[in-house]
Amino acid sequence: MTEAWLPGTVRRLGGWAVGNSRGTDFAVSRRCRHQFADLSEGSIDADGCLVCPWHQSRYDVTTGRMVSGPRGFLGWHGPTPGYTQLIRGLGRVVPLRVGRVVREAGRMVVRPRER
Ligand code: FES
Repeated sequence: MTEAWLPGTVRRLGGWAVGNSRGTDFAVSRRCRHQFADLSEGSIDADGCLVCPWHQSRYDVTTGRMVSGPRGFLGWHGPTPGYTQLIRGLGRVVPLRVGRVVREAGRMVVRPRER
């Protein structure tokens, strides 16, 4: 499949955050498991994880699982010992939905992936 997005980019496609991590297209549901920030406004870090734009929770885009918890809450941006680990635990139990990016009739669309 031809890559749809430039490496390291994230964009919105309907209810999905789509992009390219380490040369592979991905699609995950858009709402962060912490406080529902729009992950299509996030970024890709050096490890290929999707980083939330609000408190920097990190997600594995292949599984949808949160791999690092938030660094803050609401308007606070900084260390939150205990709370960060609690939210990460939740993010592992309830991962983001993971989709499959496909081209149909000349358009890029996302189809839910079976778990
Ligand atoms: S809303 Fe995503 S880390 Fe807080």
